Amino acid sequence: MTHRYTGLTVLITGAGRGFGALAATRFATEGAHLVLNDVDADNLAATATACTQIGAQVVTASGDVGDEAVHQNLVGLAMDKFGRLDRALNNAGIAHKIQRLADVSSQEAADVIRIDLLGVFFALKHQLPVMAQQGAGAILNVASVAGLVGAPMMAVYSAAKHGVIGLTKSVAGEYASKGVRINAICPSFADTQMVQPFFTESKHGAETALARLTAIVPLRRMATQDEIVEAMLWMLSPANSFMTGHALAVDGGLSAL
Ligand SMILES: NC(=O)c1ccc[n+]([C@@H]2O[C@H](COP(=O)([O-])OP(=O)(O)OC[C@H]3O[C@@H](n4cnc5c(N)ncnc54)[C@H](O)[C@@H]3O)[C@@H](O)[C@H]2O)c1
Repeated sequence: MTHRYTGLTVLITGAGRGFGALAATRFATEGAHLVLNDVDADNLAATATACTQIGAQVVTASGDVGDEAVHQNLVGLAMDKFGRLDRALNNAGIAHKIQRLADVSSQEAADVIRIDLLGVFFALKHQLPVMAQQGAGAILNVASVAGLVGAPMMAVYSAAKHGVIGLTKSVAGEYASKGVRINAICPSFADTQMVQPFFTESKHGAETALARLTAIVPLRRMATQDEIVEAMLWMLSPANSFMTGHALAVDGGLSAL
């Protein structure tokens, strides 16, 4: 059976858990060759094993996406092993503590900007020339609804994700004529480990924290990982051929109000 990604080489950062891990297995099921990264080598190896068991060819490189050399290496691996780079899901990211801006440590702010924003810049810098040379390719940057609207107590994260959308829109204009589409996806809260501190560190208790969080979402719940990954696979699919420079909210309606 032919799938949407049969024979395509897909690079995913942050593939050790959460959206990245689930996306890797979904791409594997749909026939992709995979180039996987995460800073957590054990989780990365577990995802690679799962994808191999599905039947995908997989190559991995652990490392920090805030380090430019990691991206050079990942793109090089894609070319050496598979001879092409068709898709990139720039997904790795971190959040900072839920705090007013003045309480966020400068080191934590620098880490968020380095990993969430510069990490995407480095990724694009090394992925785009290869795709432009091929005359085809698609990239999806994982931003956030916090990249579309302000996020009180998450100001630096929000700034980094706004930056990701700025990069996305700008390079979409630069590379459209080369046959490369670049978009961003903007989830609201989804049930990954990244959002656990919202509950475990809340002074109101986990139940109240969840109620408060979902009260601002018209669909009145968090997303499942499947709901976000489904949108990712569609955005990168060959069928989605006329969308570029777009930041798509998959947010239960949060940014609509
Ligand atoms: N979960 C949500 O509610 C939500 C909402 C909006 C946006 N996002 C974004 O989705 C993306 C994935 O997040 P998730 O929810 O799956 O979180 P997660 O914490 O479950 O997974 C993130 C993965 O990225 C890896 N990672 C972290 N820093 C890295 C680095 N410097 N280099 C390489 N890998 C690194 C982690 O080890 C982990 O495997 C992030 O960019 C996040 O900002 C998440």
